Amino acid sequence: MIEVHNLTKRYGSKLAVDHLSFEVEPGQVTGFLGPNGAGKSTTMRLILGLDRPQEGRATINGKRYAQLSQPLRTVGALLEARALHPGRSARDHLLYLAQTQGLPRRRVDEVLGLVGLQDVAGKRTKGYSPGMTQRVGIAVAMLGDPEVLLLDEPVNGLDPEGILWIRNLMKQLAAEGRTVLVSSHLMNEMAVTADHLIVIGRGRLIAALPTQEFIERSAGRSVLVRSPAAAELARLITARGGTVAMPPGAGAGGPTGNGAAVSPAAEVPAGAGAAVPPGGDGAAGTLSVTGLEAARVGEIAAEAGIVLHELTPRLASLEEAFMETTAGSLEYGVPASGMPGQDQQGMPAPDQQGAPAADQQGGRAPDQQGAPAPERAP
Ligand SMILES: Nc1ncnc2c1ncn2[C@@H]1O[C@H](COP(=O)(O)OP(=O)(O)OP(=O)(O)O)[C@@H](O)[C@H]1O
Ligand SMILES: [Mg+2]
Repeated sequence: MIEVHNLTKRYGSKLAVDHLSFEVEPGQVTGFLGPNGAGKSTTMRLILGLDRPQEGRATINGKRYAQLSQPLRTVGALLEARALHPGRSARDHLLYLAQTQGLPRRRVDEVLGLVGLQDVAGKRTKGYSPGMTQRVGIAVAMLGDPEVLLLDEPVNGLDPEGILWIRNLMKQLAAEGRTVLVSSHLMNEMAVTADHLIVIGRGRLIAALPTQEFIERSAGRSVLVRSPAAAELARLITARGGTVAMPPGAGAGGPTGNGAAVSPAAEVPAGAGAAVPPGGDGAAGTLSVTGLEAARVGEIAAEAGIVLHELTPRLASLEEAFMETTAGSLEYGVPASGMPGQDQQGMPAPDQQGAPAADQQGGRAPDQQGAPAPERAP
């Protein structure tokens, strides 16, 4: 269990961590998310006693890091995998760490086997690829068989097999009742690995809640509908309070790839039947509906005797939910016009950059845990 309370870290005038409070429970993988510069690595360093906070405290199983008698047996960490002596082999690096903590020599070979580096463990680390270096870092974190793991972007540099391996490792460690806090920018990976999320922006807490809930609360929920009478259905849905848009590629016919992006620009005004082009398969048009549940859309269609070819509730992806939730907290965002293929969702307007997070987050305070509370209209 990791407890962070009111943690605050300033570097000169820069507030890297701003009165941050959260808990990381054992028995699940907790994803630590936030845009570049949000304060994730700083928070991890503070938890590990590598930096001193100006305010607040962080404890591991109720103790500050400095109070742990055998720290490597309690908490394993991967912060900066490159922090290895280039002239030393992976085995020697692990051996030296094991000896400082009274860990048996055989544990070094165990963790080398765990990360798949047995065959190269005698070679100097300066010749290692980024993925190999990352594996050494993971071996170091696992050395003391710790109850608590802090992994800062452990997936970086790993090949697909390595990514799958670390995903399963983290899930297994959590299933054994350990506490696992992992940061990553790979949202697809986090979506399938993390049970719980802590999302921060500009050093402040934005959300702390189960991954599924984070996605479900996103405004990106929609219902994909295909019908040969799409124009008529669009009118009825709009009249009953729903919002209808054409998902990208709707005019091409057939179900669209993700269907989740609902561009306001493509909204169909009530009565604008001509705006819904027929699809290529039996003239079925595709609509993306927000503001009504799939069941309600089905009922509206049934009342009017309208045939449906498809009725699919869609959730936003974790990436979309993340972009939406952190849009006001980007520190190094690129204006949307500079990103080909990006829609406006999640991208800050140029004038939003550099403004304090509180201004755009509606003053979301650390005590508002569990609420991604996107204040933007869908
Ligand atoms: N030692 C330091 N001295 C000065 N500023 C620092 C220091 N460490 C971090 N910062 C600043 O604190 C802020 C938070 O940085 P941090 O590295 O914790 O972010 P992060 O969430 O880990 O970002 P990333 O996703 O890019 O790894 C940044 O603005 C960074 O420039
Ligand atoms: Mg970082």
